[in-house]
Amino acid sequence: MLVSAKDMLTKAKAGKYAVGQFNINNLEWTKAILLTAQENNSPVILGVSEGAGKYMCGFETVAAMVKAMINTLGITVPVALHLDHGSYEGAFKAMDAGFSSVMFDGSHYGIEENIEKTKEVIRVAGERGISVEAEVGAIGGEEDGVVGGGEVADPDECKSIAGLGVDMLAAGIGNIHGVYPENWQGLNFDVLAKIQEKTGTMPLVLHGGTGIPEEMVKKAISLGVSKVNVNTECQLSFAAATRKYIEEGKDQQGKGFDPRKLLAPGFEAIKATVKEKMELFGSINKA
Ligand code: 13P
Repeated sequence: MLVSAKDMLTKAKAGKYAVGQFNINNLEWTKAILLTAQENNSPVILGVSEGAGKYMCGFETVAAMVKAMINTLGITVPVALHLDHGSYEGAFKAMDAGFSSVMFDGSHYGIEENIEKTKEVIRVAGERGISVEAEVGAIGGEEDGVVGGGEVADPDECKSIAGLGVDMLAAGIGNIHGVYPENWQGLNFDVLAKIQEKTGTMPLVLHGGTGIPEEMVKKAISLGVSKVNVNTECQLSFAAATRKYIEEGKDQQGKGFDPRKLLAPGFEAIKATVKEKMELFGSINKA
């Protein structure tokens, strides 16, 4: 059964650890992440961007696949199915399709419009027990066509949005999606501390989890981050393992071309990456 992300994140905030949001792209991704969460007794959030949702034939297909897989694999740890960087329309579509959590990314609207639209998403989500993530201060980089300028959030704006009743708040603190450039300045902990001060018990979300040095991730968690989003890192480990398999000529040995064999190393690589992140975030045995 899917659950909203609210309880798992409230517990994470109180316990000073973070729950990972791992983005899914297909069946192998989903299965790898669910099995790793179960094996490590960790709560988990499956992230689906609008682009990935389209790729997987729409939110309804995704929700049906995830729910069926949870049953078939006997997954008992808390799992939230979360829309990542949803548009206003996308948030409603995902809720109708059975997602248990949505992010409405209104960061590209002015603060007034972001507030109005966030309120409406919260109203509908609240009636259905669905958790809501809002964003202040765009996350830099590009993810599935959603481009953010990487601005740093204004702590007062964070307070206004948090006060609307969202369940978790993404705040830009110099983080970006994808691989960080050589000259990246690092996370802005001063701003994070101010946001934390102004938003109290609100679980904060760190996007762009790929490639942030471990010590920075730990520090961010100590300053109130309770959800860390990871996408690119699983893609990189999947690609590297698949490339190795093919470069070693294994697809040409016996039935090595069978997709169930060809995709196995990538699947195992995703599992290893997810486990590593769960250890770093401290969510193991917190289910
Ligand atoms: P990365 O792709 O940088 O890990 O970011 C993931 C993310 O923030 C999803 O919203």
